[in-house]
Amino acid sequence: MRTITCIEDLRQLARRKVPKMFIDYAEAGSYAEETLRANRADLERIKFRQRVLVDVSQRDLGTTILGEPVPVPLALAPIGLAGMQHGDGEILACRAAQAAGIPYTLSTMSVCSIEDVAGAVDKPFWFQLYVMKDRGFAKALVERATAAKCSALMLTIDLQVLGQRHCDAKNGLTVPPEVRLRNLIDIATKPGWALGILRGRRKTFGNLAGYTPSGANVASLASWISTQFDPALSWKDVEWIRSLWPGRLIIKGVLDVEDARIAAKTGADAIVVSNHGGRQLDGAPSSISALPKVADAVGSEIEVMLDGGIRSGQDLMRALALGARSCLIGRSYIYGLGAGGQAGVAKAIDIIRNELDVTMALCGVNRVGDIGRQVLA
Ligand SMILES: Cc1cc2nc3c(=O)[nH]c(=O)nc-3n(C[C@H](O)[C@H](O)[C@H](O)COP(=O)(O)O)c2cc1C
Repeated sequence: MRTITCIEDLRQLARRKVPKMFIDYAEAGSYAEETLRANRADLERIKFRQRVLVDVSQRDLGTTILGEPVPVPLALAPIGLAGMQHGDGEILACRAAQAAGIPYTLSTMSVCSIEDVAGAVDKPFWFQLYVMKDRGFAKALVERATAAKCSALMLTIDLQVLGQRHCDAKNGLTVPPEVRLRNLIDIATKPGWALGILRGRRKTFGNLAGYTPSGANVASLASWISTQFDPALSWKDVEWIRSLWPGRLIIKGVLDVEDARIAAKTGADAIVVSNHGGRQLDGAPSSISALPKVADAVGSEIEVMLDGGIRSGQDLMRALALGARSCLIGRSYIYGLGAGGQAGVAKAIDIIRNELDVTMALCGVNRVGDIGRQVLA
């Protein structure tokens, strides 16, 4: 890999290696992408207090996530179709996370199935669940996650209906890709990607094998998905999942304080302050702007995590300062995956870890647990 110094380098490299329809799918937000942009803009607005001549020779980035020790307060977010950024993408990302000692979350909408990943890695990973109309299918997924010894279940609650991403419809995003001349020419210029996908274990939604209509294009997939996601989902279903899954439970997709208060009473272990990376409710506030109120309201009752727009260790520090115990990264590692498979994901994690380390030093902080609002200007 050429010299890579930041997540933006990985993004540029991924754009050269991954076909346009899949990189567009990863980068896009819903509708006018206001929330997607706000996630970044609001992080960039937060400035640090530079502190000098503090002894910062004993820095320690370690902490715990859900009681498990981690060397840096970071985890990999669930990403649908990660296996279309790179062949066997979910397995490679999971291996990179485990080598770095941080949690990896496998999406319900992954290419590699729960069993594929469990058979290819040596430590437990987290599984992200979408509860769809067919509750039997949701129950079966929970049972499969139990059998695979997943160490936490992440229940995503911000996708009762699907926000539209214009580029997916325009690109004819399909799994496997729709045969369009434009797509074929694009793929022909990305032979490394194509070979990786050909060699990969699967080419479609692994967890949904036998469940999705085969050869669906984005229009039929979108209509299929909209028939499967359940607009009637409620907090009662969270109770139901809690009863099925005795292990660690994370509720992902909370932005509002009222919802956070309800989530904290469900017996879940953590919530993720998230707007799905700006892919659902366009016009929703950025995750970072929603964080302080949520952390103040429930941070003493439940572990508060955040995702949305984290592209650097500086961003991670900003979120920790405003009340998050840890952060998930989505696109930051997906760019790494597209750019260089497992090594690319490892690089993304390493970049963010090192940036956090230096940022802590320049703010005069030695321990992650000491990061609070005092580090902000
Ligand atoms: C390409 C892509 C696919 C995603 N798929 C899922 C998914 O299957 N399940 C889920 O809970 N969240 C999904 N998300 C949301 C991420 O888990 C996470 O909330 C988001 O990426 C965080 O924002 P960031 O990408 O700016 O870090 C997806 C996000 C992206 C970018």
